[in-house]
Amino acid sequence: MSLSARKKEYLRLMGIPVYSERVDVAEATLVEEPFAEFIPESTNPPEAVSSVIDSSPVLKQASQETPASEVVEVSIHDVLKRGELPEDWSDLIDHVANCERCDLHKTRTQTVFGTGNIQADWMIIGEAPGFEEDKQGEPFLGKAGDLLSSILESIGLARNKVYIANSLKCSPPGNRDSKKSELAQCRAYLEQQIALVDPKVILCVGRVASQNLLQSDDPISRLRGKVHSIQNPIKVEKQIPVIVTYHPAYLLRSPSQKLKVWQDLKLAFSVLTD
Ligand code: URA
Repeated sequence: MSLSARKKEYLRLMGIPVYSERVDVAEATLVEEPFAEFIPESTNPPEAVSSVIDSSPVLKQASQETPASEVVEVSIHDVLKRGELPEDWSDLIDHVANCERCDLHKTRTQTVFGTGNIQADWMIIGEAPGFEEDKQGEPFLGKAGDLLSSILESIGLARNKVYIANSLKCSPPGNRDSKKSELAQCRAYLEQQIALVDPKVILCVGRVASQNLLQSDDPISRLRGKVHSIQNPIKVEKQIPVIVTYHPAYLLRSPSQKLKVWQDLKLAFSVLTD
């Protein structure tokens, strides 16, 4: 069976519709090794994934739901608000490039705004640029980035057909964890990117990105398997479905979890509408 036929057969077994011009399944060029490495051994369809619409009034101010026990380093009044930002894409890039709203600007080489198709149906959101991304100015490079590309290619999505952004636009030094205050300051940039790309579905990878976007303290195990929803902050009548999945860096350490990512992708496909 050719790779393409095998992929289609696999997607059929998974219950993923091979229909859409939008995702260019037919045009996708797959790299044999990453795809073979990514797909699970078993061709049995995974158990049905529960699809609960969790319609949260998203894009609330970040610090609104911060538990009282946590140190809040920025007050809600100091947090940058999306409405203060340009609605023109290149102006937004310039604005981010000059950002000094948190200390990360002191250690960054450059901001990492995002990459891909700004009219994409799929938007992928990660946590923060790492060392290599800081040097090169592009998100998701290195091994985790390669795995993310393979995951996307396995469902017919070339990396340049989606839009990829991070919750933070600057790399935390020494690859340390992102701070809540940094995420709160940077959130407006992500909100504006979401508003302007206006994707049909958002795939949030990893706990930090997911909790930040959905303003939730739930563990990733509870956030997965549901269709969350956020409001497009400019086109307020539009709700954008959000699917949570594991971060590729975690999958590198725990490859057995890849099947769950398949389930999440299947769920993401199921919410794509014309
Ligand atoms: N690189 C990124 O750009 N984002 C992540 O979340 C991890 C690595």
